[in-house]
Amino acid sequence: MGTVEIYGAQMGAGVLVHGGAGHVDASRRPDHVEGCKHAARVGYDVIASGGSALDAVQAAARVLEDLPAFNAGTGAALNEDGAVEHDAAIMEGATLRAGGVAALRGFKNPIDVARAVLDHGRHVLLAAEGASSFALARGFSKVEEESLVTERAKETLARVLAGRAETGWAGGTIGAVARDRHGSVAAATSTGGTVSKLRGRVGDSPILGAGTLADDVSCAVSATGDGEGILKIGLARVIATLVERGEPVERAAHAAIERMVERTKANGGVIVFDRHGRFGFARSTETMSWAVCGESGADAGI
Ligand code: GLY
Repeated sequence: MGTVEIYGAQMGAGVLVHGGAGHVDASRRPDHVEGCKHAARVGYDVIASGGSALDAVQAAARVLEDLPAFNAGTGAALNEDGAVEHDAAIMEGATLRAGGVAALRGFKNPIDVARAVLDHGRHVLLAAEGASSFALARGFSKVEEESLVTERAKETLARVLAGRAETGWAGGTIGAVARDRHGSVAAATSTGGTVSKLRGRVGDSPILGAGTLADDVSCAVSATGDGEGILKIGLARVIATLVERGEPVERAAHAAIERMVERTKANGGVIVFDRHGRFGFARSTETMSWAVCGESGADAGI
């Protein structure tokens, strides 16, 4: 097992985002960090003007979905057919309202569709054709699927299919966690999943307690990395349970990532914000771009 890196600090109200755990080439790292900084700033602007943590994480996630550097929205990883199938979820810690979409095709901002599922309130997770019909009925427009596909995503899939790169790992999932001025937390995660995944494969991101969770009794969590491992361990729920018992967020994140690596051999990272305003993250991968912006200042890294 590689070293699990951790970081934690006090922030008060603020937004923390990640741009995915993995290995980002040195030449692409500035783009990752700048994208995260911009998203955290946009998210915090919502909170600074009196908005909720829920609206803040949605705004931050939308920024990252629109940046082709990340594996979400435009630029998402391609499945075995060369198609984009998005997963996304969003959750509010004060009310436990949540919404998610899985294997959704043809929408520019899956996090907005996930938010519509949350606002609609009848179900928590919609998949594939059903999610698509729901989105159309709620006034979202489909885009040309090709407009979501970048040259880099095509090249990555071609390398994997030619056996020149490992199948599965994509990196670049995006996520945001926040705490607002009322002490409420929220989480959002969005991804294209893994390169050359089977059609219909659903990862951890839209599954509450795995890739995404927010609960005001503990914290908000957004995960990134090997979805199958994150699902098996229930990564976000492990962290929330530890935080509820009084563990600082970064120590809870560290313990959960260590457990995942030991039990499943999967790697990844996670960001956490608790209701007392402490944020932190842990990762077992070489890189995980992140940025935080809030009452006590701003910081970023990879
Ligand atoms: N963690 C993103 C995925 O595996 O789908």
